[in-house]
Amino acid sequence: MHYPFWDQPIGYGVLMAAIAVFHVFVSHFAIGGGLYLVVNEQLARRSGDGQRLDYLEKLSKFFALATLVAGAVTGVGIWFVIGLLAPAATEALIHNYVWGWAIEWTFFVVEIAAAMIYYYGWKRMTARAHLTVGWIYFVAAWLSLVIINGILTFMLTPGRWLATGNFWDGFFNPTYWPSLVLRTGVCVMLAGLYALLVASRLESGDFKARTVRQAALWSLGGLAVTVLSQVWYWKAIPLELTAKALQAMPTPIRSIETSFGLAGVIAIAMLTLAILAPRRLGTPMALAFMALGLAWFGAFEWSRESLRKPYIITGYIYGNGLELAHTDQYRQEGYLAQIPYRTGKDGADLFRHACRNCHTLDGYKALKPAFDGTDRAFIAAIVQGTQLLRGNMPPFLGTPAEAGLIADQIYQRVDPRPLAAIYHLEGAALGRKVYDIRCGKCHVPGTGSDKSKSFEGQSAEDLNGLLDMAASMGEGMPAFTATDADRKALVAHLQTLGKGGRP
Ligand code: HEC
Ligand code: HEC
Repeated sequence: MHYPFWDQPIGYGVLMAAIAVFHVFVSHFAIGGGLYLVVNEQLARRSGDGQRLDYLEKLSKFFALATLVAGAVTGVGIWFVIGLLAPAATEALIHNYVWGWAIEWTFFVVEIAAAMIYYYGWKRMTARAHLTVGWIYFVAAWLSLVIINGILTFMLTPGRWLATGNFWDGFFNPTYWPSLVLRTGVCVMLAGLYALLVASRLESGDFKARTVRQAALWSLGGLAVTVLSQVWYWKAIPLELTAKALQAMPTPIRSIETSFGLAGVIAIAMLTLAILAPRRLGTPMALAFMALGLAWFGAFEWSRESLRKPYIITGYIYGNGLELAHTDQYRQEGYLAQIPYRTGKDGADLFRHACRNCHTLDGYKALKPAFDGTDRAFIAAIVQGTQLLRGNMPPFLGTPAEAGLIADQIYQRVDPRPLAAIYHLEGAALGRKVYDIRCGKCHVPGTGSDKSKSFEGQSAEDLNGLLDMAASMGEGMPAFTATDADRKALVAHLQTLGKGGRP
């Protein structure tokens, strides 16, 4: 909050994902590629296999040039984006890890230089010198992972650092080792998949069969390491985080399940299509393997990112840049007092700093549809109860009056007509909609917050009584302020829920 707010219409999550996903894929390719090249060059030279050396030279162009150039450009891009999106968290990371990054960049420079020499040196250097440069390329690339892994894992599981503030406690945090092994496995797997893709385009024959089979085995090896270390990784995450995720966040859990499923599909398809019938492996199939591999890795990264919610650095700094340690100060002095760069429009400023990091009004993760057909009092209550809603949001750390200003800001933009008029609904469908808008944000069906059981055997009169009392049913639960038509439809819907009906 010590920084001006970077306001632009693209969803921040989308922006970050677009650049970070690309960077992460490319950098893992670069590391895995280094290992694949040197190991295979060594084998090929030992057996005097010229055909294989030509093939490796072709591969090295992609690994050494495309991945390094794209890796470097997107890496710098990430710095720009995180600095603008989450300046406070970026500041915290730099404060702690400035030397870590200095070391990582040193390795990266060595990696780039060695990879360039390696690529241009195939015909110009002695075999021995070329291999040495290749090993330097791979080891430097992997050491940059060794460093950056300490910073990445720190954000999800800072561990003892929260108490000690010690560099090494944060660096060698609880998920450091499983994540390092896992990412190394990913590098190996991705390099194998790329080698498979290039091999699939070779002329059909013995050389292709040999190369395809070898690349497939190589990726399977990487995949096996990855899947085993993912189990280890999951176990290393502190129980509070995983328990909360299991209870309230079906999404990351589903993406973990998806990732195991994908790993199984890759393994079986690889065995039957590439290892048993390598001659017939075509480029479309190799592309499909690549897509599956990237989907697997994407699912893992996605679950890691969502597990961290509502924090950017678990237990230290929230997704909107507020520091946990200053909670009392924010609540006492108010939110506005913490914002040095103000535009004069307090409601808009508050909305930007409290919500805009993750939501827009009517674009990405839009808030307008969540509030269309409601009223200002309801919106103000929800602003003050964000930590109760699905989505694992940070709490609102301002005063009630400031929550009101945010509510005004949002209310100006929502459709004030009754829900029935906006969505052309009546009867049961209207009841379901009222539930989604007014209750379902906090009481998510099928999770621990589901209240369907409380409606069992209740008459319409009982339920009307319950709605009258809504504001006193739970800390943060809003008063029921909807129109009579909405109320009637909701009561009927609650009765359906009480009978075990569809939410
Ligand atoms: C750190 C990120 C973050 C911040 C900050 C944040 N939210 Fe959210 N919010 C989420 C996520 C994630 C969801 C789940 C959305 C989804 O699954 O599509 C969510 C869901 C919601 C929903 C429920 C939407 C629905 O359709 O049920 C509402 C309402 C909401 N947020 C309001 C707010 C308000 C108001 C603020 C500011 C006071 C705010 N949020 C701040 C991340 C955030
Ligand atoms: C902003 C979040 C929020 C919204 C929206 C919300 N509730 Fe709640 N509700 C709570 C909290 C918090 C509690 C108390 C903790 C608990 O029982 O889980 C609660 C408790 C309840 C209870 C249980 C009370 C008890 O004594 O067991 C019922 C029933 C209930 N809510 C129904 C509703 C209905 C119906 C709606 C929609 C009109 C609704 N809630 C909307 C947050 C919310």
